[in-house]
Amino acid sequence: MKKALIIQGPNLNLLGTREKTIYGSTTLADIDSAMKEFGASIGLEVDTFQSNSEGDIIDKIHAARETYCGVVINPAAYTHTSVAIRDAIAAVDIPFVEVHLSNIHTREEFRHRSMTVAVCAGQICGFGPDSYRLGLMALKQIADKKE
Ligand code: DQA
Repeated sequence: MKKALIIQGPNLNLLGTREKTIYGSTTLADIDSAMKEFGASIGLEVDTFQSNSEGDIIDKIHAARETYCGVVINPAAYTHTSVAIRDAIAAVDIPFVEVHLSNIHTREEFRHRSMTVAVCAGQICGFGPDSYRLGLMALKQIADKKE
């Protein structure tokens, strides 16, 4: 089975208790286990990784090219600020799909701009935890087409 990685950025470890009116009550562990199950059902073995540290996320992106057919990434706040994460994504030649729980385009103006989306295949946002499911489906399609 092809392997896919889900990378979760800063503060997403607090999902379930963090700003529940925006992000809901689903925890990161809930998302991880649901996505492993969903991935297997569409032919993807899913690993998950969360970090609050920009450098650790960059190291994980670099290492991903050896193991994974692609990555679903929620860079969280780094979406809006990180040239370094953008450059890391651009440096590895596997597909990335950017996802967000909330619809970043309807929120504060500083969230409207993504530093990372231009080096991703596309962006899915606003569907809560289902954004990850849609992201994995998109990644599977891209990986299958590449074969
Ligand atoms: C987020 C949106 C970002 O603007 C925010 O900084 C997050 C979560 C989302 O999933 O909706 O931490 O990426």
